[in-house]
Amino acid sequence: MNSTNNPFSIEGKTILITGASSGIGQGIAIACAQQGAKVLLLGRNLSRLEETLKLCENGQEHGFLSMDLQEGVIDTNDLPSFVKTHAPIHGFVHAAGISPTIPLKVMKKEQVLTAFQLNVFAALEILQILTKTGVKAPEGMSMVMISSVMSEAGEKGKSLYAMTKAALVAMVKSLALEYADKKIRFNTISPSVVNTPLSLKSEYRKDELAMKQVQDQHPLGLGEVEDVANAALYLLSDASRWVTGTNLIVDGGYLAR
Ligand SMILES: NC(=O)c1ccc[n+]([C@@H]2O[C@H](COP(=O)([O-])OP(=O)(O)OC[C@H]3O[C@@H](n4cnc5c(N)ncnc54)[C@H](OP(=O)(O)O)[C@@H]3O)[C@@H](O)[C@H]2O)c1
Repeated sequence: MNSTNNPFSIEGKTILITGASSGIGQGIAIACAQQGAKVLLLGRNLSRLEETLKLCENGQEHGFLSMDLQEGVIDTNDLPSFVKTHAPIHGFVHAAGISPTIPLKVMKKEQVLTAFQLNVFAALEILQILTKTGVKAPEGMSMVMISSVMSEAGEKGKSLYAMTKAALVAMVKSLALEYADKKIRFNTISPSVVNTPLSLKSEYRKDELAMKQVQDQHPLGLGEVEDVANAALYLLSDASRWVTGTNLIVDGGYLAR
């Protein structure tokens, strides 16, 4: 089957990815490049972005831009001119994120704003740029936000993180309706624990019993970045052309309990 009759192909598409310097975002970038896409990598750490770029080599002219999404994306012209240079754009994945664990009694407003800025507002600003600046591919665009199972289920100390992730799930539903006639689809992916630098820093990893409990909550074991990347490939491809406003749960059975 060649790419013209394989609906799962993303060959020749151009995909913008935040968080491309590490973990899930890096895994998605590599998977997209392996499937023949051109990737536009966003992250903060320049040397790790360059590492991702190397791992994405596939003969396409990829692009990368180092920027701090805490600063506010729309304040400078860096991103609009970057996407215009590489247009048309077929897909966007917001994988940049932080996962604070903060009990309510010590939560500060600045921590709330910091988490919302990166996990939600940055995505919103990038979506505004992509939908406003005439960079959309004529055949449409697919926008994929990396949420979390915590948009659906609670954990102690994760109220702030869960709020940011649930905001993405809610956001894509209304945007799906707002942009359906422009052939722009919006979906979230909600992973449970995936082995990445972020999850390796989690408190439960330091305690054997707590780690065993987390493992027991996942009937199929903990996830790898490829498990989330494969879900993203589906949502970025034409195979999902009738899928919008949905939340794809990729969790090794965590929410099935
Ligand atoms: N790992 C899991 O178990 C898991 C489960 C569910 C959902 N998720 C979600 O998946 C996404 C990726 O997580 P991960 O595990 O891959 O984390 P990770 O390895 O820590 O990667 C996080 C990415 O976010 C970027 N980032 C952080 N702060 C930024 C800022 N201020 N400006 C721009 N970029 C920034 C980082 O860039 P630099 O490294 O360049 O600073 C990095 O590329 C997150 O949204 C997370 O909530 C993860």
